[in-house]
Amino acid sequence: MSDHVSATPVGTPRRVGAPPPPSHLSADTLARARQIIALYPEARSALIPLCHLAQQEEGWLTAEAMVDIASLVGVTPTEVLGTASFYDMLHTEPVGTYLVAVCTNIACLLNGAGELLEHAETSLGVNAGGTTADGSITLEEAECLADCDRAPCVQVNHRFVGAQSPETFDQLVTDLRAGTRSADIPSHGTLIRVTRTTGLEADRAQVASERAAMADAQKARSAAAEPSPKGGS
Ligand code: FES
Repeated sequence: MSDHVSATPVGTPRRVGAPPPPSHLSADTLARARQIIALYPEARSALIPLCHLAQQEEGWLTAEAMVDIASLVGVTPTEVLGTASFYDMLHTEPVGTYLVAVCTNIACLLNGAGELLEHAETSLGVNAGGTTADGSITLEEAECLADCDRAPCVQVNHRFVGAQSPETFDQLVTDLRAGTRSADIPSHGTLIRVTRTTGLEADRAQVASERAAMADAQKARSAAAEPSPKGGS
């Protein structure tokens, strides 16, 4: 990992002159995180993009990374964990370099997914949910992956790799381990390979004025809903 720079944990103001606490995110990741935050009117809106960004470093979200994200967007680490643990594509536990998901939902099941998963477990030497000893593959049993017409459907690092038979599955694993699929299947944690630089920037003055108008409207509604004082006209 490259050298690291500082981030201040939420709720722990630093003494003047005290050295900043270390960040576990790389300098590059921190710089990119600040660019992403600047695209949103509220820093906390960048929480999920930052989780994806941080996940690229280790392939999963470490506790330390979640503390850094919390600091950057102004929430608690527990809120980061609560959000990250809700989404299948964010991992709060270590996973292998390649996350291989075999769909066993109805269309795939009818087209041999059960047998394929069984074969995968035997050939990889792990049960679904496990990671191979070399850390290269995590095998996952998945619900419908929305590619039912290519059943039994398999994804690697959330990329569709088409219907697989036991034979093609073994070849796929061999290729992944040899690195020959790295052009179309990056290591786990990398979801997007295109960097967004514009498109979400908000006009902060407009946001502030719309918020003020909303607050005024709410106040007016509350005032209208209040009962008239007794004896009043
Ligand atoms: S049932 Fe497997 S992708 Fe839909």
